[in-house]
Amino acid sequence: MKHEQITEAGKSIRGAVHTDRRHDSAEKHVTGRAEYCDDISEPEGTLHAYLGVSTVAHGLIKSTDFSAVLSAPGVVDVLTAKDVPGCNDISPTGLKDEPVFPTEKTEFHGQPLFAVVAETREAARRAAELAKIDYEVLPHALDPISAIEAGHPHVTAPLKLERGDASTALASAENRLKGRISIGGQDHMYLEGHIAFAIPGEDDDVIVHCSTQHPSEAQHMVAHVLGVPSNAVTVNVRRMGGGFGGKESQMNLFCAVAAIAAKKWNRPVKIRPDRDQDMTATGKRHDFVVDYDVAFDGEGRIQGVEGSFAARCGYSSDLSGPVTDRALFHADNAYFYPHVRLVSRPMKTNTVSNTAFRGFGGPQGVVAAERMIEEIAYALGKDPLEIRKANFYGDATDGRNLTPYHQEVEDNILPRLIGELEVSSDYQARRKAILEHNAHSSIIKRGIALTPVKFGISFTATWYNQAGALIHIYNDGSIHLNHGGTEMGQGLNTKVAQVVADTLQVDFERIKITRTTTEKVPNTSATAASSGSDLNGMAALNAAEQLKERLTAFAAEKWNVAPEDVRFANNRVEIGEQSLSFDELAREAYMARVHLSAAGFYKTPKIHWDRAAGKGRPFYYFAYGASCSEVSVDTLTGEYRIERTDILHDVGRSLNPILDKGQVEGAFVQGMGWLTTEELWWDDAGRLRTHAPSTYKIPLASDRPRVFNVNLAEWSENKERTIKRSKAVGEPPFMLGISVFEALSMAVASVADYRECPRLDAPATPERVLMAVERLKTDG
Ligand code: MTE
Ligand code: HPA
Ligand code: MOS
Repeated sequence: MKHEQITEAGKSIRGAVHTDRRHDSAEKHVTGRAEYCDDISEPEGTLHAYLGVSTVAHGLIKSTDFSAVLSAPGVVDVLTAKDVPGCNDISPTGLKDEPVFPTEKTEFHGQPLFAVVAETREAARRAAELAKIDYEVLPHALDPISAIEAGHPHVTAPLKLERGDASTALASAENRLKGRISIGGQDHMYLEGHIAFAIPGEDDDVIVHCSTQHPSEAQHMVAHVLGVPSNAVTVNVRRMGGGFGGKESQMNLFCAVAAIAAKKWNRPVKIRPDRDQDMTATGKRHDFVVDYDVAFDGEGRIQGVEGSFAARCGYSSDLSGPVTDRALFHADNAYFYPHVRLVSRPMKTNTVSNTAFRGFGGPQGVVAAERMIEEIAYALGKDPLEIRKANFYGDATDGRNLTPYHQEVEDNILPRLIGELEVSSDYQARRKAILEHNAHSSIIKRGIALTPVKFGISFTATWYNQAGALIHIYNDGSIHLNHGGTEMGQGLNTKVAQVVADTLQVDFERIKITRTTTEKVPNTSATAASSGSDLNGMAALNAAEQLKERLTAFAAEKWNVAPEDVRFANNRVEIGEQSLSFDELAREAYMARVHLSAAGFYKTPKIHWDRAAGKGRPFYYFAYGASCSEVSVDTLTGEYRIERTDILHDVGRSLNPILDKGQVEGAFVQGMGWLTTEELWWDDAGRLRTHAPSTYKIPLASDRPRVFNVNLAEWSENKERTIKRSKAVGEPPFMLGISVFEALSMAVASVADYRECPRLDAPATPERVLMAVERLKTDG
């Protein structure tokens, strides 16, 4: 492993970019010494809040009786909509469709209607059960199809992406296939659930410690519900125990409740739902029902595609607009559609309002694209990989490089990536062996699939693509680093500190990584869309370069050398013939009154997006990857296991290969869980029945592939000028899990001699696999 980088001076610093460096908190994570929000010592007098929730999926609130709650031991208060001093709204996009607490009606089973404030968390939690609420029950629709049938509105404006003439292409097609796939949602299952802890200050002030990916939004929301300016509110996040998108907007409610109660009682207030309430009261990944219609020639080349993407958005818009947009942006995955029309249907349903989750709608789009590929392959009796290759994006020379949103694909490295993985995974020989095995094995069937990923990097909300950083050099030479991103386990702080260490040529340990706080960097974006290191790494680079320039100018003048003769290397600064330690230079600069603090800023160039026209360049670049998975399925029970997975993933020139590999492995397993065992199930009353790890099955360590070969495409370099030519890694590898889904599909298809696409819905739970096997046996 390359732990060190040799510098010009022939010496090295610890923690340079492009070298392996463990997560800065790794030891603290595993020894339990990392401080999470719930570990912050509670001041004397801290109160605890707990949410009281609706027990019907849709109903008018006719009356509320909180007398039993209020007389329960330890209870201090019950907060309802009346207690919101400012605006009773926490919708992240300004559509004003999400109250802190509703006033007239409840729109999903489990919707927070009030909060109990008590001396202890247990007292608040028990008392919340004692409210008496009368409802006039109204009809409800839980899934996108019944919502369409019931005439429910969209929660936000749908998107249409169109290029060429899809209708004509379909009407005149050589071959045409229509189908539908249902794709399930997913619970985030972060280890640390939601939590907010508000400490009131003088005047309007309040400090909120919480676990959010978006401190600036939490700050603005708290200000908004309190009716005070944003400068009265400080939001702090040291780290999250996982976010995965679930903490991009969902923390707003908890921050609002804690802050309202803290200001009302002038006492610190903490709120932390238990796991069941976290799962029922906060949003998850959107389920989709996709209807597709695809035209193709005898070689499997796609001629035209029409797709309709209906999503279960829940009762409010939350982030459903950009999520359903991103589903369309990825409905091509890696393939060129000569004629295409795609529409989103963001349906209002009587369920919790769905939200961001790793991939942000993209994975659902990719699954739909891969289903069409599979359909074509089974229809033509070919290997799906052959159909994939026939449809990959080309380049400007063959006119096959335009996406449905009219952005050109400029650096398609998939043919090389896929080619290498095909060889390293021994795909062809193994597929042949599997076909032979299946021909002779009546019960255990095997399947293999090799699937690609292309993922667009940038927030599609263009203005989100900005970041700030703040660096101080103290006069002892120690460095304090702050940036707008948040740490959720992905290693963002490590990567950003590496950038600073590399720029100033000092050891990583010299840099103090501090909590994210709205006091230091204002108006930040959510740490999301995989953009954390791209944006904050660049902002920190900008700040570090300013400091380096100032120190260089100072040294050149003081020691009377040309600025080119001032060189930073290995914790020292060479100034002509002079050589000072970094500490000595910091001290000298301070004595000479050099400003040793700098604010850095970055905004992504080149991107623009016209949503109404469905045209633009929403993405700065694409990240690519591919995975090959082999499964075996017991056709008597539907149970399966993953025998082997090989991955080759593109992170450009990795800032930190070992962290990036960890991201790829984790994302693959999370994606695999989404498509296999993680099933959300609501009963007819609209009550989520899979609301605890006992009923909601995430992958265990024992579910991982028995052979798991994960590699980064070391030859890749970002063609765009990103931070040190790296690429974002957070979300793209999530979609590598699709190879497992498709391998299961092949194993199932074997029972009918691969003549029919099994059309597995996701997640392909053992029950679904078994049902598909039985169906195909009867069909065949
Ligand atoms: N990795 C860990 N360990 N924990 C997380 O919560 N979130 C994922 C990904 N990797 C997550 C993670 C999601 S949804 C995103 S968008 C990115 O990390 C955000 O961080 P980044 O932009 O710094 O990569
Ligand atoms: N990805 C993730 N989070 C977001 C986005 C996005 O594109 N837009 C707004 N929030
Ligand atoms: Mo990630 S879903 O963009 O937080």
